[in-house]
Amino acid sequence: MPSAVMEQTTQLELRLASRMSRLGTETAFEVLNKARALERQGKDIIHLEIGEPDFDTPSNIIESAVGALHKGWTHYGPAAGLPDLRQTIAEYVSRTRNVPVASDEVVVVPGGKPIIFFSMLALVEAGDEVIYPNPGFPIYESMINYSGGKAVPIPLREERDFSLDVKELASLINDRTKLIILNSPHNPTGGVLSKKDILDIARAIGDRNVMVLSDEIYSRLIYEGEDFSIMSVPGFKERTILLDGFSKTYAMTGWRMGYGVMRPDLAAHVTRLMTNSNSCTASFTQIAGIEALKGDQASVDKMSDEFRRRRDVFVAGLNKIKGFSCRMPKGAFYAFPNITKTGWPSKKLADALLDQAGVACLSGTAFGEYGEGYLRFSVANSLENLNKALTRVQEWVGKNIR
Ligand SMILES: Cc1ncc(COP(=O)(O)O)c(C=O)c1O
Repeated sequence: MPSAVMEQTTQLELRLASRMSRLGTETAFEVLNKARALERQGKDIIHLEIGEPDFDTPSNIIESAVGALHKGWTHYGPAAGLPDLRQTIAEYVSRTRNVPVASDEVVVVPGGKPIIFFSMLALVEAGDEVIYPNPGFPIYESMINYSGGKAVPIPLREERDFSLDVKELASLINDRTKLIILNSPHNPTGGVLSKKDILDIARAIGDRNVMVLSDEIYSRLIYEGEDFSIMSVPGFKERTILLDGFSKTYAMTGWRMGYGVMRPDLAAHVTRLMTNSNSCTASFTQIAGIEALKGDQASVDKMSDEFRRRRDVFVAGLNKIKGFSCRMPKGAFYAFPNITKTGWPSKKLADALLDQAGVACLSGTAFGEYGEGYLRFSVANSLENLNKALTRVQEWVGKNIR
């Protein structure tokens, strides 16, 4: 194309759809990019910003995918997922959530995230209210706003061990409430909703026709308490969209595979969204997904034990740093210390730790307004690096905080 035409094209105003102004982002990726840019300048950075296991995908899963590629699983598949994988997931969810699930209630998608996107697109419109945890995974608020709904935060407070206040939740539910998002184990706080909490939440919702998006992507990473899903509460199966996947449990973040379990009529609509967006999840990946769920689970237990060991060391270390205090997270792989006593706002402190101490973490405000006063550190890094990060933060605090 002649360069004169190119120049003219770039001078045209970009007539962006107004809905794009309502779309948020996930700061973890921005901080990762900034940390990588600092590394290119020769700085040594310890990465505690991104939420992904530092382990390799277990070899049985990799071998299964390689075998599937050789066997020709390289074509389009059904939009909702391969029947064998949907059946395997249905059996897995039936067993782990103690509720009968059939394969037509399962939709396989590229990662857990699309289930958030598709649930909102399918259910939420202007005037609808969606209650979501704050601090919380930033994509919830972004997608509620993008779909035109009203984002109604339910604050998660440290004094309640980052579990939600059911009375407060009850006061937020009204005739416009379309969807309530739960996330346990919780990103970024590591909080886990107890069975009692969930039963109380179910009671607060009562018999209202309100859907619950239960994000259980960290369901296999629980160190204290139990994995109890609202899906198994009598009367809630048809009102629950369960989100789970392979990213965190099997260290498969880059494979992009997750799933939603929901009533079959909603599953058909979510499948239509898949047809319109992705066509299907990669076929050979899905074959490996069957192996992940049916094969040896020793690597899952090993990873979980290792995260627990690191959590114990890292949280104990944080609690020795002046101005920091950190509750013991019960699940996931994050530490969420309170830093108010440093006198620094969260974002400024996170920026300073990256720029001056070489430790990449996230400001609590990356997870919503109620995250002010906190930082999030991922413990998905080696014990050696975690200890190094603690020393660096401690030294930085010694020099900069009186
Ligand atoms: C709470 C929560 N839900 C969903 C996801 C998305 O997972 P995936 O990478 O499978 O899309 C994440 C990833 O960080 C998460 O923390």
